[in-house]
Amino acid sequence: MTTCRSARGAPRRWGFGSSGSVTGRGALCERDGGERGDPGVDRPALDWRSDDEAAHHSGVTRPILILFAHPSYEKSRVHRHLADAVRGLPGVTFHDLYEAYPDHDIDVKGEQELLLAHEVVIFQHPFYWYSVPPLLKQWMDLVLEHGWAYGRDGTALRGKALQVVLTAGGREAAYQTEGFNRHTFAEFLRPIEATARLCGMPWGEPWIAAGTHTMSEAGMREVARDYAALVTRLGGGAG
Ligand SMILES: Cc1cc2nc3c(=O)[nH]c(=O)nc-3n(C[C@H](O)[C@H](O)[C@H](O)COP(=O)(O)O)c2cc1C
Repeated sequence: MTTCRSARGAPRRWGFGSSGSVTGRGALCERDGGERGDPGVDRPALDWRSDDEAAHHSGVTRPILILFAHPSYEKSRVHRHLADAVRGLPGVTFHDLYEAYPDHDIDVKGEQELLLAHEVVIFQHPFYWYSVPPLLKQWMDLVLEHGWAYGRDGTALRGKALQVVLTAGGREAAYQTEGFNRHTFAEFLRPIEATARLCGMPWGEPWIAAGTHTMSEAGMREVARDYAALVTRLGGGAG
């Protein structure tokens, strides 16, 4: 168990396990511990960037939609690094759901059009109570409509890859059958995997940065580089 601080500076304890590791395509490494810095950075402006020309020249063949869901980005340490690493990449549309929908009033048709314009969909989020943050769940509830995303005529997403990119306070060792949390990440992610299957979306091995509570700044930068390489690979470039 490690200690972190809320925005007001009061210590808060989390008991999900602890460490620093990345699992997923092409990465498995341990990170050292480190102190929390003062976040003090505002949420980035909504960015729908998708530079077709740059994408063409960089070899990107599959446009990527990153659905970013972080309920308290102003306190974020890790996702700030991750977001900065991928936001400007060619062929990437970085879509911050909490920025776009502060009232959680999701534009369903707009989201569906966005999905149709991309070949790879990434769910980027922190692990919250062993699950996705609420706005991402609401996005799933509303946007993945019967007859559109699934069901007899629901083929809109068929063939578009779904990639989970998540961070977790607990260490990977805590996410084992005999570990602190008693279940693996794969088990906790079954509902998302089943959703992908129902929608005909190929499921990529989840990319997970675990042990964030004790991750150093250097560790976070390394994790962010690894994430950028993953996104580049998914887009068809040489990551
Ligand atoms: C409400 C809440 C619930 C959380 N639930 C979990 C959890 O179930 N498992 C876990 O390992 N970490 C959990 N954490 C820790 C976060 O996943 C972790 O702080 C986050 O991934 C770090 O990314 P960030 O620095 O960008 O916020 C939780 C944190 C909060 C605030």
